[in-house]
Amino acid sequence: MDKQMLDYNIRVRLPIILVAVVVAYFATFFAGFKERNMVGYAPEQPIKFSHKLHAGDLGMDCRYCHTAAEKGRHAGVPSTDTCMNCHSVARADMPEIKKLKEYFDSNEPIPWVRIHKTPDFVYFNHSVHLASGIDCAQCHGDVAGMDVVQRTKPLSMGWCLECHRTPQEQLIEVTGPDNQKSAQLVRKHAGGQHCSACHR
Ligand code: HEC
Ligand code: HEC
Ligand code: HEC
Ligand code: HEC
Ligand code: HEC
Repeated sequence: MDKQMLDYNIRVRLPIILVAVVVAYFATFFAGFKERNMVGYAPEQPIKFSHKLHAGDLGMDCRYCHTAAEKGRHAGVPSTDTCMNCHSVARADMPEIKKLKEYFDSNEPIPWVRIHKTPDFVYFNHSVHLASGIDCAQCHGDVAGMDVVQRTKPLSMGWCLECHRTPQEQLIEVTGPDNQKSAQLVRKHAGGQHCSACHR
């Protein structure tokens, strides 16, 4: 290598490579940071609604409020009407219920803060997962024991694929060792690991 070339390598190429490495390092670091940060995300909600009270103590079925989960992509959050089925009477004099009634009377939707969200370029569908016997808790944790809903899974690509690759092991915790159905379904729908299954 002649001196001019060595000079070029040190003065021009080396700094470019160093910058690229540093940028890549921080990009990975912050991507990981976001993931770690989202697990445990439990924002304060406009009304102190407790899953522990309604789904736990009162024993209400998740589907009473998240009716759409079995039918399509989204589980959805219930409209204020659903709450007023009970709260036009129940605890009507409590401050949080008065707030609820104000939203109801003004016809304004309650601005619940979203906790679980995949990016727009990802396709996810609740109904196919529920139909193959996966429980809400497998992806959302023990919501019936939470006063404030908290995110317990990263919802990252690695997390989705971990289950798609080894559904049996993943599902045994929830459905018991005899559940062959989900594993068969995943094998049959080989698309479960193809890029186009989740990115369409
Ligand atoms: C009485 C109605 C009701 C019942 C029953 C209910 N939920 Fe909810 N759920 C809500 C409301 C309202 C919200 C939005 C406010 C919040 O996050 O607490 C919500 C939010 C959620 C979220 C977070 C949504 C997001 O923003 O990502 C999950 C997950 C969830 N519910 C799962 C469940 C599960 C699992 C059950 C059964 C164990 C259940 N819910 C039972 C009303 C209900
Ligand atoms: C099936 C009936 C039912 C439905 C539907 C229902 N609740 Fe309740 N809720 C209750 C009962 C009963 C209590 C009181 C439980 C207790 O204190 O033992 C309660 C308590 C509450 C409280 C606490 C009130 C206090 O004491 O300060 C809040 C807030 C609340 N509900 C909000 C909601 C919201 C928001 C919805 C709709 C997403 C909803 N509830 C749907 C029955 C219901
Ligand atoms: C296989 C994993 C999985 C299962 C099982 C699952 N969820 Fe979800 N849930 C998700 C993902 C991923 C999102 C984010 C979806 C998005 O951004 O489109 C989500 C979002 C939600 C939301 C936010 C609003 C919405 O519809 O996007 C609610 C509420 C919810 N889930 C409730 C439930 C309930 C109730 C059950 C059981 C009946 C359930 N989920 C079962 C993975 C799951
Ligand atoms: C706990 C296990 C589990 C997790 C976690 C999971 N899946 Fe699945 N998924 C399944 C099973 C089982 C099937 C097969 C259902 C079938 O084909 O009937 C499936 C099927 C699918 C399909 C194919 C449905 C169709 O329309 O053919 C898509 C798309 C999908 N999952 C996306 C996702 C995404 C995106 C995530 C992460 C955000 C995810 N899944 C997380 C178990 C899981
Ligand atoms: C089972 C569902 C699933 C499959 C299959 C899948 N992805 Fe993803 N992918 C996701 C999810 C979920 C995210 C969003 C991750 C996040 O928000 O952290 C994602 C994100 C991405 C991103 C953005 C960068 C990142 O990591 O966030 C790229 C690029 C990508 N996927 C490419 C691919 C390619 C290429 C394939 C095929 C080899 C593929 N994906 C297969 C679910 C899937």
